[in-house]
Amino acid sequence: MVESIVRSTEAWADRFFSHRLNPLPQAGAIVFLLLTVLTGSGAILFLYYSVEFKEAYRSVAYLHDGTIIGALARGMHRYSADLIFLFALLHMLRSFFLGKHGEGRWRSWLSGTGLLLFLIYQGVTGYILPWDERAQAVLNVVLETIAAIPGIGPEIANAFLTNDGISTRKVIYILALHLVPPIVALGFLGFHFQRLRRPKIWPQKPLIVAIVLGLVVCAVLLPAKSLAPADFFTIPGPVSYDWLLLSPVVFMKSMGPSAFWITAFMAIVLFASVPIILSYRKSDDYVRLDERKCVGCGLCAVDCPYAAIELDPLPPEEKHPLMAWIDEKRCVSCGVCIGSCGFDALDMPLRKCADIRLEAETFLEKNGSSKGAPIIIYACKNALDINEVEENMGADGFETVFVPLLCAGQLYTGWIEEDLKKGAAGVMVIRCGWNSCAGREGATFAENRIYHERKPWLRKRVPLEKVRLVSCDKNRSGHVLGLIKQFKRWLEKDSGTFQSEKTAIPAPSMLVSTTIVLLFTTGFIYFSNMLWERWEYALEDWNKGRVIVSLNSPKPARLKVSMKDKLLIDKRFFDKGNGGRGTIYEKIAVDSLASDILITFHSGSKVSKTLIKGPIGAGRVVVVREKAGKLIVEGYKNLGE
Ligand code: HEM
Ligand code: SF4
Ligand code: SF4
Repeated sequence: MVESIVRSTEAWADRFFSHRLNPLPQAGAIVFLLLTVLTGSGAILFLYYSVEFKEAYRSVAYLHDGTIIGALARGMHRYSADLIFLFALLHMLRSFFLGKHGEGRWRSWLSGTGLLLFLIYQGVTGYILPWDERAQAVLNVVLETIAAIPGIGPEIANAFLTNDGISTRKVIYILALHLVPPIVALGFLGFHFQRLRRPKIWPQKPLIVAIVLGLVVCAVLLPAKSLAPADFFTIPGPVSYDWLLLSPVVFMKSMGPSAFWITAFMAIVLFASVPIILSYRKSDDYVRLDERKCVGCGLCAVDCPYAAIELDPLPPEEKHPLMAWIDEKRCVSCGVCIGSCGFDALDMPLRKCADIRLEAETFLEKNGSSKGAPIIIYACKNALDINEVEENMGADGFETVFVPLLCAGQLYTGWIEEDLKKGAAGVMVIRCGWNSCAGREGATFAENRIYHERKPWLRKRVPLEKVRLVSCDKNRSGHVLGLIKQFKRWLEKDSGTFQSEKTAIPAPSMLVSTTIVLLFTTGFIYFSNMLWERWEYALEDWNKGRVIVSLNSPKPARLKVSMKDKLLIDKRFFDKGNGGRGTIYEKIAVDSLASDILITFHSGSKVSKTLIKGPIGAGRVVVVREKAGKLIVEGYKNLGE
């Protein structure tokens, strides 16, 4: 059901873009393009970025004042980050609903999960680097969430708390946390493409032009700007959020740390297990090799879109030096290699070659000598609802047979020649759209083999006008019906014109597609920007005051915080077998008028105390630390006392 919605949406988009320029099936390649833009613009931003804590904010905030290139790079970096998220989601949903996660594809799925997490992570750390109020709010929530991780959590959170709010050390930490993961992501990308032969990593050129141009236009017209500088002794009030990239932070805040971690963990495990849960191969559907027939020509190994076939050397006494070897685990049963083998050495249990031939030959035995125009229609099962078309054929169904294939790539061109010899007036091949092929390259190979561009091609003596290639999808049966009738009339009368399909991009559709993609890119960025500029949201309770207790002290220990006679917290910390040392990080929200807050810390037999006279004030933060065995209060001086 959902698969059919995805396919019909793509088919609908095909009408505007043509098969080759439809961005939906190329979403993965667009993500790759945007990754490249992000890397390039990120490298430029890095040149301008200052890690010196007083300069970090200024080096980003005033980028647009100083240089055109810097401002352009900032805008393109921010907007391509938004766009990449959108296309990564589209690519993921498409892979999911078209069932592209099973068998040999699990590597792509698993690494895709890692890449998606990487994109989410980069979005969040990227928004901290400008060190403005938004960065501060994001960092506070992230630290609070991290502090809830038992053991290392408080230690990580404390590493970011310093006397001055922002310090050079902190800036370097965040910068490293933003710059190092892309190197790890390269490994994920390698794994993502590992089992895909000839991955289409770049979208079609007109799409590249439209998207990059759209980003440049947006970067110029809507320059990315910073908010007021961060002040870590205040609680940030409502600020605007990027609704795409910062939604994880909003989840962290609204769910609370524990619920967030549990939900995130379960979601990741569930997501990563999709290939096991939904696509576990129950039968032995992989392609079979007849070793006696294989001559080791290697065409199948080159053609297999999932790199599931290799060539093994044979001992010198054998007739042929090489023989195909099938990696059953990688085979996704697409059938594309069947069309590569001119020696009948490969077969698919799901759709046997013998059955395909039997259906065509039985039909020709009956109709081959007819004076009409018997047609054989080889149809990819993903491209056509054969039953529906057959029902609607009416009188045209006479002398026509549909022979289903797993993929148009399963068609061996020698069969076409045989059919025409045995009396077929014409042969029609129905495949999926250029980019929508379930076997990735089957639709393209079918075309290439028919038009003498890929071996084993249709012999040149076969008249091409008797072979009709049609791109289709299940929701356009009416369209196919019309083409079959047209082909039949043409064969019967041997007159009229028809143009055989070959997927060159017509100039008008190139122009239309480029314009639509350009408008979409700028429109999406404009509206999402407008939306998030308006969506002001307070990540924190900024009407209250806050006390943060940040201690690195031996355990067991006990922390008590009370206000006048009211106990706010009383927490014990135990030695977890790490020699007794460990970090304590506690965040306590207090009323803005709160005063006389007493902090008592017991560590072994030692007791340290400090009193915050207050009032702390709305939106103010006080940090309690330990120095030379004493508790000291930071931030309090900022209250004007
Ligand atoms: C940085 C993020 C990503 C990039 C750059 C990317 C890029 C690509 C590209 C270029 C392809 C090859 C398409 C082809 O040649 O047919 C591909 C395939 C694939 N991707 Fe991604 N992808 C990303 C994220 C994801 C995510 C999040 C998922 C889902 C969890 C995913 C799942 C897949 C699958 C299953 C395939 C194989 C499709 C097939 O068998 O036809 N990818 N990806
Ligand atoms: S059916 Fe053939 S082409 Fe398809 S994945 Fe298996 S071995 Fe490769
Ligand atoms: S295409 Fe056929 S003959 Fe050639 S290597 Fe593959 S299985 Fe063997």
